[in-house]
Amino acid sequence: MDTRAIGIWDSGLGGLTVVRAVAERLPGERLVYFGDSARVPYGTKSAQTVRRFARQNSEFLLTKGLKLMVVACNTASALALEELQELLDIPVIGVIEPGARAAAAATRTGIVGVIGTPGTIQSGAYNAALRECKGGLSVVSRECPLFVPLAEEGWLMHPATRLTAEEYLNPVKQAGVDTLVLGCTHYPVLRPLIGEVMGQDVRLVDSAEETAREVEARLDKLNLKSADESAAELECYVSDMPSRFRQAGELFLGRRIENVALVEYDKAKENPWQ
Ligand code: DGL
Repeated sequence: MDTRAIGIWDSGLGGLTVVRAVAERLPGERLVYFGDSARVPYGTKSAQTVRRFARQNSEFLLTKGLKLMVVACNTASALALEELQELLDIPVIGVIEPGARAAAAATRTGIVGVIGTPGTIQSGAYNAALRECKGGLSVVSRECPLFVPLAEEGWLMHPATRLTAEEYLNPVKQAGVDTLVLGCTHYPVLRPLIGEVMGQDVRLVDSAEETAREVEARLDKLNLKSADESAAELECYVSDMPSRFRQAGELFLGRRIENVALVEYDKAKENPWQ
């Protein structure tokens, strides 16, 4: 039994959907979360900037003593995962491959939709991962940047969100997709509305659940699992406004967040998290 923590990070709140899925699947694991609330969003920033943030976030979480790290941000997974896997000496799991695998298995028509931030969609990471899983898939992708603030606002069934969803999703629907990947950690909270707009024949794939499955499989394979439920307390760190994170995060986590600490960001230092 290995009682070291699993580190999970995202640009802000959205990665809590991954925390939720991992906690449900692996109740005996200690989870440490970092939300980079001072620098969110990542989805509209350059690849170079996202890679720098990714290295810094990882360095901070590694100080907590980890056995595995999850990059619970699609944008950072698309742009920085390979680099982190090379740099770190613990397993690093992203959210793109698990989501792509589930979508490739689910599609019957071979036409798969992917929605995400501009950074994720423009990277082409989902297209590559989907085609690696199953040759010959046709991929229809769409940037949906407004979904992030709408989800953070808690406007899950609001008319403004519905209108936005129709605008973004109608072309995807018309392209005949039978499976849609929710390729951003914020989107699972909008799932009921997205499902209504896409219609019941379209299967929605949530990368959070698939990632949790992947985490379990990797821990099993490496014999790193813990079943110590007394240690399974979630520890959260943010780079700005812990009170907002505590409040808005409940929506993403599905329960109260007790333990949130502020990490000071000092950009004059080599590693800013000190
Ligand atoms: N967490 C990001 C993602 O999954 C969405 C929010 C952002 O743009 O930072 O791509």
